[in-house]
Amino acid sequence: MIDPVKFWSKLAPKYAKTPIKNQAAYQAKLDITQSFFTPQTRLLEVGCGTGTTALYHAPHVAAVLATDISPAMLDIARDKQSATGIDNVRFEELNLDVDPIAETDFDVAMAHSILHLVHDLPGALGKLHDALNTGGILVTSTVCIGDWNPLFRPLIGIMKLIGKAPHVSLLTEKSLTAEITNAGFEIIPQDRVAGGDAVFIVARKI
Ligand SMILES: C[S@@+](CC[C@H](N)C(=O)[O-])C[C@H]1O[C@@H](n2cnc3c(N)ncnc32)[C@H](O)[C@@H]1O
Repeated sequence: MIDPVKFWSKLAPKYAKTPIKNQAAYQAKLDITQSFFTPQTRLLEVGCGTGTTALYHAPHVAAVLATDISPAMLDIARDKQSATGIDNVRFEELNLDVDPIAETDFDVAMAHSILHLVHDLPGALGKLHDALNTGGILVTSTVCIGDWNPLFRPLIGIMKLIGKAPHVSLLTEKSLTAEITNAGFEIIPQDRVAGGDAVFIVARKI
């Protein structure tokens, strides 16, 4: 099995240079997320990659803790932060499958393009639930490969075998929604984000 730290760290420089596929869909998700912010908001992100989303939101909240498994992703994120002068974001290493989220009292948590990558989804959602205040918001944009044409599955299997793909779960929108609900969240219905190729879900901790 591929070591996820090595896999994502090797990819980090290329990932940083890859433009966002659908800027309109990305912006719509940013806007929906910001509708839950106040100036006092404490924001958590898991699987933050090179920090683009955390740094975008930072001026609109009190503080951001942005975490990722890959030191190389986090180094790029910190370089971007230095270039902007934003001082209310901390980038820290955290493997969502292994490490606890040591801090609590967050108002909003983001998990974008990460929930399909973890081995223990109920465990990961439990950690996010524990880190949030009651009434806190979970926002996730997640690729649901289980809803894709099944012909893709052998291809994914081959890519994993040759080290070109990490572990991915075949989540469907239905199974992801059920996992989030089972973890103690209620779904806040959203209009479908046009053109997005991931499922966008907003949920409140109950
Ligand atoms: C597809 S990228 C998404 C990055 C960013 N959230 C975005 O939307 O552009 C997946 C990110 O999750 C991180 N990652 C993968 N497995 C992880 C894990 N078990 N715990 C924490 N981060 C993980 C990778 O290092 C990578 O930065």
